[in-house]
Amino acid sequence: MKKIIIALDGHSSCGKSTMAKWLAKEIGYVYVDTGAMYRAVTLYSLRKGYFNGEEIDTNALSADIDNGKISVTFKFNAETGRPDTYLNGELVETEIRQMEVSSHVSPIAALGFVRESLTAQQKAMGEEKGIVMDGRDIGTAVFPQAELKIFVTASAEVRAKRRYDELTAKGDDVKFEDILKNVQERDYIDSHREVAPLRQADDAIVLDNSNMTIPEQNEWLLAKYKEIVG
Ligand code: DC
Repeated sequence: MKKIIIALDGHSSCGKSTMAKWLAKEIGYVYVDTGAMYRAVTLYSLRKGYFNGEEIDTNALSADIDNGKISVTFKFNAETGRPDTYLNGELVETEIRQMEVSSHVSPIAALGFVRESLTAQQKAMGEEKGIVMDGRDIGTAVFPQAELKIFVTASAEVRAKRRYDELTAKGDDVKFEDILKNVQERDYIDSHREVAPLRQADDAIVLDNSNMTIPEQNEWLLAKYKEIVG
């Protein structure tokens, strides 16, 4: 069967990665979570003191990127059935999902030199096709030639509730209002940045999953894939 590139873009916490992971497993494709790459670079910047919440030391960060000091890789975790994210060889999967990183990632993801570097790595990952990649600019900037492009969305309240449930299930002490504010702020910054803003590709299929269950959205996605590969 021919291998294709599947691009899933959309707002934060809309369930893109759940769908993308499921589909990749179902059809034997590689799954890449590009948000994890931006999150890992954010964690690096926070740890190094390059980002204090107000200003970013762009000279220091771009020098480290140019000098190959930031390596973000993925390793499949057989226990969870999902890839884990590593920053310079250290497992950071849990840390990059915490609020500290979530609330600092958008300004880092808006930097042109960060996007340039991560986009180049993402393009290389798709050379062999057979890949499901989720993010914000996959169908527009990384793989404009992707055979299947999906743009996922859901209301901000539904998305905040999903993230709240996810974090509280892990034992994190978080407030729903803070999460909703973070979701809305990220929507704004992601959609208004100059470089590769979040927008629907002209040829993307839109899915609003506010009122869909996970099995329903998975079924919908699998059907779209089958339409393309025949
Ligand atoms: O999907 P996520 O919430 O883990 O993404 C984290 C942040 O990274 C999000 O605020 C937007 C940014 N991002 C991006 O700008 N481009 C991508 N391809 C993926 C994520």
